[in-house]
Amino acid sequence: MARGPLHRLFGSGRPRGEKRPGEKNSGQKKPGEKPPGVARWVSDRLAQLSYAVLVEPTWLEVNRLQIELPGVELERPFRVVQISDLHYHGKTPQAYLKHIVQQVNSVEPDLVALTGDYIHGGGRYIRLAAEWLGQLRARHGVLAVLGNHDHAIRASWSPRLHRNLNGRVSAALAAHGIRVLHNELVVIEHGGERFQVSGVDDLWSRQCRPAQALAALDEGCPHIMLAHHPLTIHQIEGRRCDLMLSGHTHGGQVHSERYGSVTLSKRMRHYAAGLYTFGPQRLYVNKGVGYGWRIRYNRRPEIAVFDFAGSPTEPERGTVGESDLAGE
Ligand SMILES: [Fe+2]
Repeated sequence: MARGPLHRLFGSGRPRGEKRPGEKNSGQKKPGEKPPGVARWVSDRLAQLSYAVLVEPTWLEVNRLQIELPGVELERPFRVVQISDLHYHGKTPQAYLKHIVQQVNSVEPDLVALTGDYIHGGGRYIRLAAEWLGQLRARHGVLAVLGNHDHAIRASWSPRLHRNLNGRVSAALAAHGIRVLHNELVVIEHGGERFQVSGVDDLWSRQCRPAQALAALDEGCPHIMLAHHPLTIHQIEGRRCDLMLSGHTHGGQVHSERYGSVTLSKRMRHYAAGLYTFGPQRLYVNKGVGYGWRIRYNRRPEIAVFDFAGSPTEPERGTVGESDLAGE
């Protein structure tokens, strides 16, 4: 990103006083140079805030990743498109939603995977959210899991704010042809291979049962898992997981080079956004398409397109918690 007012707010990421190579007297005023005035300071911050509120929250990013499956032969790649954290509410821009549907359907997915938090603030917009999600098209259909907001749970320790909200969300999605996975696994035949797709309820819902979902898992076939909360990856140690698709963090929504993703807890900053590897298991944390508070900075909303392709090689052993996409 070019240097400008945004850099002046959030900084360049270099420690104070450290100079770029060849940079001279950057911390010293030139003779006759005036310090920036209050008016300039205020206008810079207004520009930054305007960008973060008006531009970035609906500036959709399409991230494409190829996932290699060692020892698998495929006649053609298996394309999965992930959408997460819609957070549908009364002010969700309709033109933005239309654009997302066009983007998803235009890449002709084999499967659309939805990873939770379809609604925001209770059940008022369940029908509209389900109608919108019902427009997504994929060769093998649309699979979904629920997030904490769909269970009416705002924090790991908090009670449910609405009774049976999850049941209403599941029913509305099912009415639009979307299969919601509640701790279960389905098999999709594609390109001469059996893809296993499992889905668990949200980690905070007290109904997340990975052992139940993976009871019938065939360790010899590719496995994609849907789980709203990224930390679910630590509930399936030892089981085959070629890719877990998660969301929940929104990438922190606001990310500064100097301070990082300040809205996330210290632990969750290690799972903020992007692709992570945990030995042979992989985790993708999607930044989501929606928001509660309308603000995003350096964390554009995204849809993620995964092409699963066969590979004759052994899997690479990655670093625990290493993000390949977002530079965490
Ligand atoms: Fe969430």
